[in-house]
Amino acid sequence: MDLKKIFEHNEQWIAEKLSKNPDYFKSLSSGQKPEVLYIGCSDSRVTAEELLGAQPGDVFIHRNIANMVPNTDLSSMSVINYAVSHLKVKHVIVCGHYNCGGVKAAMQSSDLGILNPWLRNIRDVYRLHARELNAINDEEQKYNRLVELNVQEQCMNVIKTPDVQRAYKDRKLQVHGWVFDIRTGMLKDLKIDFDQKMDKIMEIYRLD
Ligand code: CO
Repeated sequence: MDLKKIFEHNEQWIAEKLSKNPDYFKSLSSGQKPEVLYIGCSDSRVTAEELLGAQPGDVFIHRNIANMVPNTDLSSMSVINYAVSHLKVKHVIVCGHYNCGGVKAAMQSSDLGILNPWLRNIRDVYRLHARELNAINDEEQKYNRLVELNVQEQCMNVIKTPDVQRAYKDRKLQVHGWVFDIRTGMLKDLKIDFDQKMDKIMEIYRLD
């Protein structure tokens, strides 16, 4: 990738935006009011804005390896805090993807240094769903299912945050689990019923 091209592209992009709306950057700099928080994988093939058809100002975005929301991760917790409690987004989307290298690495037992504690969160997802996953003989299918279950568990981690618990009390906020299929380009809504998944356990996360 030619880095010089990036700056050439930048000039073209500015000209294009201004030709359609001379006040484009003036209004962009006046503030943001995105309605969506997107949490996705850092994978270069899974873009956020392009995938969502979003424009600047539309989506608050957080990306890391394997779209994780660990309870003690200051970065993702801060993003959720700001998006939910300050920007007051209406939707939180956790979007995973098939062929995710992070999920693949978590299924293997190689020592990956600093990635070990990060990937251990995915290994814990495997442990939580070991019965279902171990019953799948086809490795590819097992890998795909772990991608989906990881999205489900990260959505639950979003729901467990004090910010989301507080938001649930006074406004409508929806959490969605999606998966992007790199092989076809299709975006799939996993349509997870969190009320059912967290039935009889939700109380311990609820804040008074
Ligand atoms: Co990935």
